Amino acid sequence: MPDDTVNPRLGLVTISDRASRGEYEDRGGPALRDYFQETLITPCELVARVISDDQAGIEETLRELADKEGCCLIVTTGGTGPAIRDVTPEATEAVCQKMMPGFGELMRTVSLQKVPTAILSRQTAGIRGASLIINLPGQPKAIRECLDAVLPAVPYCIDLIGGPFLETNPERIVAFRPKPKTK
Ligand code: MTE
Repeated sequence: MPDDTVNPRLGLVTISDRASRGEYEDRGGPALRDYFQETLITPCELVARVISDDQAGIEETLRELADKEGCCLIVTTGGTGPAIRDVTPEATEAVCQKMMPGFGELMRTVSLQKVPTAILSRQTAGIRGASLIINLPGQPKAIRECLDAVLPAVPYCIDLIGGPFLETNPERIVAFRPKPKTK
């Protein structure tokens, strides 16, 4: 049973060589923070990281946020494309016990209506223990486009893996729970 006395924790991971070296301002992390502050009405604690496109380092961060920080949802931004250093989906797959390919399929479908290069994102999602990990592309505007598509199913997914009860702001996103569960 999730512990109702502590606020749910969300992991926000910017994956970018240049942002991690400070050569480039991290715009993904703030965009994720703004998105969740607007979209969730459940008070959550946000745990943010900015790391390089290094597969072992990404895996270590995802394990730390899931296992030690207890994040029920971990969202990554960046490193989903075809370039040599883009390894976020590989790292995600390496740490997950179960992949959730529907998330990537839906996000690409929606993104293709906005930009033809959406086909270049290999973004995926998976489950590690009681954490749902979702990859997003690096463009800040992609964050909103992709999350708006999948967020209706996220609270129920977190219910099913034993996580906390997340409530969305219905003016932004209506969460769908086929079998309504109350707190
Ligand atoms: N999806 C959305 N919704 N909006 C975008 O601007 N950019 C695309 C794609 N998906 C984009 C998108 C581009 S140009 C690339 S290269 C891939 O995401 C991978 O981006 P990443 O390597 O920053 O993760």
